[in-house]
Amino acid sequence: MATAIYPGTFDPPTKGHLDIIERGARLFETLIVAVAERPEKEPLFPVRERVAMLREVCKGIKNVRVVPFRGLLVRFASQQGADTIIKGLRAVSDFESELQMALMNRTLVDGLDTLFLMTRADYLYLSSSIVKEVAGLGGNVTPYVPPAVAKRLAAKLKGRGRSQ
Ligand code: PNS
Repeated sequence: MATAIYPGTFDPPTKGHLDIIERGARLFETLIVAVAERPEKEPLFPVRERVAMLREVCKGIKNVRVVPFRGLLVRFASQQGADTIIKGLRAVSDFESELQMALMNRTLVDGLDTLFLMTRADYLYLSSSIVKEVAGLGGNVTPYVPPAVAKRLAAKLKGRGRSQ
């Protein structure tokens, strides 16, 4: 198996994301972690900072490359030579929208399959949004994000007048 792409917003990356990256990297020769810019979502972290955090947490995994992208995922996947999209699946609530995206992506580029990796039970209800909410309200998120991310989150929230 050759190259797979793992797309996401990663605002910020969590231990759930890292788990999918580690497992995806074991299945493919190369895993591209594609960080969607998504300015319309007004992310807490600009894309270059999300890329930097992911590069930091993935530096021990030799076959992982972290790159930013904008626009259509399937176009970017083709440019990168990836023929599989990797996604993590958490609770059943993820299923409907993930199915819709997987079917649309496969329609847009025939043969571009999406491979779903089931989350570890520990991360079943973990999301970047809940991490930001808890951190923003002063809760401890260190069990849920890699240390490098916890550090940047604390710095970011401090800069915005909130602290962890
Ligand atoms: O981490 P997220 O927010 O669940 O990631 C969603 C993402 C970035 C993978 C998805 O929104 C996406 O693929 N965006 C790129 C634009 C695109 O190709 N849209 C059509 C998808 S069917």
